[in-house]
Amino acid sequence: MSQLTGLAPALWAPSTQMGSAQGHQELIVRGEGAYLYTADGRRLFDGTATLWFANIGHGRADIADAAARQMRELETFQIWGGYLHPRVIELSERLTGPMAPIPDAKVMFGSGGSDSGEIAFRLARLHWQLRGRESKVRILSRHNAYHGLHAFGTSLHGSRAVREAYGGGPLVPDTGYIDRDDIDLVRVTILDEGPDTIAAIVAEPIIGSGGVYPPTPGYLRGLRELCDEFDILLIFDEVITGFGRTGEWFGSQRYGVVPDLTMFAKGITCGYVPLGGVFVARSVWEPFWSEDPAYLYTFGVTYAGHATACAVALAVLDVIEREGLLGRVKELEARMSAGLGRLAALSQVVEVRGEGLMAAVRLDEAVSAPDVARRLRESGGMLVRPVADNSIVLSPPFITTDDQLDDLLAAIGDAAMRADAAHNAVRVGIRPAVRREVASHGGDRDGAAGSG
Ligand SMILES: Cc1ncc(COP(=O)(O)O)c(C=O)c1O
Repeated sequence: MSQLTGLAPALWAPSTQMGSAQGHQELIVRGEGAYLYTADGRRLFDGTATLWFANIGHGRADIADAAARQMRELETFQIWGGYLHPRVIELSERLTGPMAPIPDAKVMFGSGGSDSGEIAFRLARLHWQLRGRESKVRILSRHNAYHGLHAFGTSLHGSRAVREAYGGGPLVPDTGYIDRDDIDLVRVTILDEGPDTIAAIVAEPIIGSGGVYPPTPGYLRGLRELCDEFDILLIFDEVITGFGRTGEWFGSQRYGVVPDLTMFAKGITCGYVPLGGVFVARSVWEPFWSEDPAYLYTFGVTYAGHATACAVALAVLDVIEREGLLGRVKELEARMSAGLGRLAALSQVVEVRGEGLMAAVRLDEAVSAPDVARRLRESGGMLVRPVADNSIVLSPPFITTDDQLDDLLAAIGDAAMRADAAHNAVRVGIRPAVRREVASHGGDRDGAAGSG
């Protein structure tokens, strides 16, 4: 029965206001291409590639076959302490080849984006400890950042409320903020805090879950220069931007900046199974290729380099190459940018932001973004995501057709106009009540600002 009604009384869903979610959760039972299907037979266009990961679309037989083949042969074996399997060899070779965001890199695997953060942030600290620079322990992130919700990620979260929710300041104390856009202010922060206290700066090339903020011109290059000047490691979090979302394999390539560590997850397996990891530059990995016991990085998760996940990743990379999806993202970006321009002309739209195949449409405060998202889902058949500054975020799959993208953009404009009309009707007392229940629990299904 629960399955039909969409009730899950035994489930505690992540970052979800459970009290108001009951009875409002959407039951998704099937996916095919850019569409998802609900238990009651509705078709929804996946305007956000789910949580920024369904880049090659849902329900693909080629990926399912790759996973099944691998599971029959060897579901996985550990790669801890001297074991290997063929898929992890193939994947690490492929990733560190021409597509790599860092030349001559090594790659370490985890199970998802938050794991990637743990790998990168600890390694940055260890790097300086082993060089005798013991005071270099702080990791700085940008306002509006999202780096997952493990202890480090929570402590680097772009919202102070999330960062400090657990008492006694951030869970990892040696963390702090830099300005999101102004590189001169970043320099001021580094000097104020003391370069000798800072191990690393972490940045998403384009901020994703925090609201889609492309970098201001020169910002990422400026970070690279400051990190070089002050002996600070530069970590790019490419959990969203990696594997094609900017039209290049990695966002860093689009902006022509080489970091010291690159975090990835999501798009490497496009949601078919969990996998994440970190590219590490030679300057960081080289000392660890030693027999000195001091140079042992004691970190890892059971499923690091999981064979089925690696097989899926290889199959996903094949799809991206075979179907020319990096080029397709560039085409879609141009089309989306034209559509965003049209939306920007609406009186209900305050601002549009975006680069690559990710964008935010900020709505006038009279129009609630969670309300627009609800309208789009319930009557427009589109899934989009409202975020904290009253914006609608979209990041469709790379396999989206021109028509699907045009429909998505038109539907957003339409829903914003309708929500505005409903708001005005209420304001002048034409209709005493409108349904706003989703807006009221916008922090879970329709509004998880700065999460995921
Ligand atoms: C930029 C970024 N980093 C890290 C993460 C965390 O990834 P995961 O949820 O797989 O742990 C996310 C998730 O949305 C993300 O967007």
